[in-house]
Amino acid sequence: MHCLGYYRDTTGELSVQGIKISYLAKKYGTPLYIYDSEIMKDRYHAFLNAIKEVKGNIHYAVKANDSINIIKYFSKLGCGADIVSIGEFEKCIAAGIAPEKIIFSGVGKDKNEIETALENNILQFNIESQEELYDIHYIASKIKKNANICLRVNPDIAPDTHKKISTGEKETKFGIDFENVKAIYEKLHQLDFITPVGLGVHIGSQIFDFNFFYKAYLNLRNLADEIKKVGFSVPTLDLGGGIGVDYKNDTKTDLTNYKNIILELFSESNFKLSFEPGRSLIAEAGILVTKVIRNKKTKDKNFVIVDAAMNNLIRPTLYDAFHKIENVQTNKTGEIVADIVGPICETGDYFALDRTINHINKNQYLAIKTTGAYSSVMSSNYNARTDAIEIMIVNGQDHKMKEVDTIKDIISKETLIDFD
Ligand code: LLP
Repeated sequence: MHCLGYYRDTTGELSVQGIKISYLAKKYGTPLYIYDSEIMKDRYHAFLNAIKEVKGNIHYAVKANDSINIIKYFSKLGCGADIVSIGEFEKCIAAGIAPEKIIFSGVGKDKNEIETALENNILQFNIESQEELYDIHYIASKIKKNANICLRVNPDIAPDTHKKISTGEKETKFGIDFENVKAIYEKLHQLDFITPVGLGVHIGSQIFDFNFFYKAYLNLRNLADEIKKVGFSVPTLDLGGGIGVDYKNDTKTDLTNYKNIILELFSESNFKLSFEPGRSLIAEAGILVTKVIRNKKTKDKNFVIVDAAMNNLIRPTLYDAFHKIENVQTNKTGEIVADIVGPICETGDYFALDRTINHINKNQYLAIKTTGAYSSVMSSNYNARTDAIEIMIVNGQDHKMKEVDTIKDIISKETLIDFD
């Protein structure tokens, strides 16, 4: 029996579900994203355990990783979905998720997106402004379809996370100002084809201090209770996502406190709860395997130049994110301090700066860890680079998840203009 997740086998090689990572890297080529279904299952059950004593559903936040096999796997485990575009909606449908299990979030749903979602009877729209309400109402009345509406509240809470992924402060574009929620909720009742279903909150991502969730959820519950007191029904509360993942130590986040918060605030209440975890379900399941192209030494520094680049994984340069990097095969020739960089022509094209790793040679592999979430999904074709290959390990078997566009495929989609 092997252990859960990525581990060193008896020869010291990084492995998963009994398969050596170096074998997979050779078989599929690099850069290569690998997803371990066992970690996905484990993290799903950990989340489920935290909320199982209250009435609630998990809607996987598809933005974290929208590969249809990832969506399908979470759907099989029991998840619905939280989406932010009709593209994500189509992916969910392709993955077999029923529209009645899909929540549509986001500040900028356009006319076509609203119409498609209504025509397919999605579970609910989480809306973020009065203006959006009027747009949805206009379209719903025109096509005579009902819209279930949940108001996303901006609680003006600043969690301790990176500025670019903090969404609960009043200066951000997200949610409806706390003081306006009651009036808009009341307005929902005056509109035909609109059914108010509740309130929601999502204060940001990569949050470890669960007191911020406590504050946000308490505010939301109190607001819902006030609205109920004046005679309106508030059947559901959407508590969003945001639970942090330990990128530094590979330690599973302990959800005991989160569970206690949910129990304290909601075990006595009658709200039906929904949760939108993304990162905490998928981040740790993924690694990005990359091959060393060459080592470069300057007067000041060592550079390990690898075949993955910021187009495959932009988190380190975009959010100063830390990802643990390990040699796939062990190499007992001592340690070096190096910048691990890609081939792209930008100084920002790095995965780690001044990182201590085991000495590594040309053509050997590195694993960039905890890259299941917001990694492949944020990739681009910058520098005319193709996407990384993606595979999933299920029941000890490796499966290719998609065909990657070759550079020929990419070029064939461009049209040459006749400039003569
Ligand atoms: N619900 C809503 C409305 C969201 O905006 C998000 C994430 C989630 C749920 C899921 O949050 P999670 O459980 O994954 O923290 N690209 C950034 C993260 C952006 C998060 C966007 N919203 C990163 O790489 O750190």
